[in-house]
Amino acid sequence: MVEFRIGYYVRTSTPLLFTKQSQDASLLHRAWAGVTDTCFEWVHGGVMIIEKSGGFAKDGYAVLRGVVADPARTFLYEYALKSACSGKSPRNDPNVVDTPSYYSDPFMESLLEMLQPRVEIESGLQLCPTYSYFRVYKTGDVLKPHTDRPACEVSVTLSLGYEARGVWPIWLDVNGEPRSFALEPGDALLYRGIDLTHWRDGFAGTHSVQVFLHYVDQKGPWKLWKYDRRASLGIKPVIARLMEQYKSSLSVPASATLSLDLPGNETAP
Ligand SMILES: [Fe+2]
Repeated sequence: MVEFRIGYYVRTSTPLLFTKQSQDASLLHRAWAGVTDTCFEWVHGGVMIIEKSGGFAKDGYAVLRGVVADPARTFLYEYALKSACSGKSPRNDPNVVDTPSYYSDPFMESLLEMLQPRVEIESGLQLCPTYSYFRVYKTGDVLKPHTDRPACEVSVTLSLGYEARGVWPIWLDVNGEPRSFALEPGDALLYRGIDLTHWRDGFAGTHSVQVFLHYVDQKGPWKLWKYDRRASLGIKPVIARLMEQYKSSLSVPASATLSLDLPGNETAP
């Protein structure tokens, strides 16, 4: 048994690094660490959090603390909020109705590439990036239990920041057992998006900015989803299709400039 102070929890994914510091027994529930497994249980913002992982290779998920540090994290957070307030934000994702959601934003596509080495280390896999996506969740949003499409074989959900009284946990179904994870700004959950059902219950805060970064195993069954079947990162499939039409017909359909946002079922992570 290892105890630690809550208020700010241990920011490491490496077990056996904790020291006894508990001074707030009302918040502390339990924490233990083993050679290969870690488990944290605590109450945060009135929500019981249970994090338990034997690592990505064993369990198909892992918690990564402090993946994006300031000032980059704050920059991306403010950028996302301003994008949502710009009046040009797509809100056509049927998974979270009327919530600003962005596919293939240039900054987030760059983040997708930047974090690939870290994700490869944590997953033990050589990866190809597929696509990035971010949402600015609003009060009352719910993410229904679901699994992801093939481009999301290895997925990261990363908190860029939020305004709420407490953390908004994400849940995974691990062999029939629900497990919740508290991601503070800069923290991420790495998980097998195709295999593990995941969800979020109703959001009680004002907003929460979450970016999703997706990869496929270079040697796996979904490797053809590299760049989400686009020519490169940073472009939207609809534009890629228009370019193909342009090359084949040397003319762009008149409607081409009217709808550059993708149908939700193509974009949703
Ligand atoms: Fe998902």
